[in-house]
Amino acid sequence: MVHPLASPDIHKAAKIIKQGGLVAFPTETVYGLGADATNPAAVARIFETKDRPTFDPLIVHVPGLAQAEKLAASFPEGARRLAKRFWPGPITLVVPKTSAIPDLVTAGLPSVALRVPDHPTALELLAECGQPLAAPSANRFGQVSPTTASHVKGSLGDRVDLVLDGGPCRVGVESTIVSFLSDPPLLLRPGGISTEEIEVLVGPLGKPPKDEGSPPAPGRLSDHYATKTPLYLGRDPGKGRRGFLGLAMPENPDDYERIEVIASNGDLREAAANLFAAMRRLDAGGLDAIVASRAPEEGLGRAINDRLLKASRKG
Ligand code: TXA
Ligand code: MG
Repeated sequence: MVHPLASPDIHKAAKIIKQGGLVAFPTETVYGLGADATNPAAVARIFETKDRPTFDPLIVHVPGLAQAEKLAASFPEGARRLAKRFWPGPITLVVPKTSAIPDLVTAGLPSVALRVPDHPTALELLAECGQPLAAPSANRFGQVSPTTASHVKGSLGDRVDLVLDGGPCRVGVESTIVSFLSDPPLLLRPGGISTEEIEVLVGPLGKPPKDEGSPPAPGRLSDHYATKTPLYLGRDPGKGRRGFLGLAMPENPDDYERIEVIASNGDLREAAANLFAAMRRLDAGGLDAIVASRAPEEGLGRAINDRLLKASRKG
């Protein structure tokens, strides 16, 4: 892909990255908090800035399949098929790593999670700085992922050296993560590319075994995506000031102080793109509870339900 000449902002961002600094940048899924993946001191700053436990490994962003293969000790045929079909795009592939990737990035795991983001700003930054970028979502640990530059500023403020503004993220939920350390490959996180589309190319995906360890095994930490306001999925506590979030209007609109309908005509792509911003608006609404209704368990609906479940009160 040919990119226009890098803008002054990209130049500045690349310089910060090369000097070991942190740059928040847009991707098609959510905003990332990026550092030079080959610089352990810079990567350490990511964990500090997010208050993220160092046993939770980071995704490494690269400009293309060729660069991904250089960081992988082996690149299974199924992974290559998915990369060729979906990169640049919202899918992350876990493969055995080489020593080019410091252990801090992968929390000591012998594998690395790789992805090529589908956003012109992210691709320009990768081209300009010439290094792979380790980048988790640009929010404090456990918070809802940011889908605009102002979400990033609200969450991390001056803890980052620069925030590149690329407008609202097109996909709105994080990448799908598929691990190729086993056969069949495992679905570690549903996301922006649907399971159905992936299985057409590599056959049925396995599910990782439930992990009860404490702390959880690296890479198996379940994110919280927590709103401060308690969120109830598919049930209504029935009292207090409540807000509603769903793909369509609720049957009992008068019960809610505030209603966020995140899709028109049930469109799952539109719903995913609107999900996190709507969760943030409801969270800021001074409510006692957020009542969310499930999306159909298909396509991007799986990723939406996964995030809502992680954000919700259990029990
Ligand atoms: O869309 C996305 O993937 C965004 C954008 C910024 O690219 N990034 C993102 O990163 O969601 P983060 O850190 O919020 O989530 C990364 C997930 C974590 O659940 C982590 O445990 C898992 O990837 N992960 C990273 N490396 C892994 C590995 N070697 N094995 C298994 N899981 C891994
Ligand atoms: Mg995250």
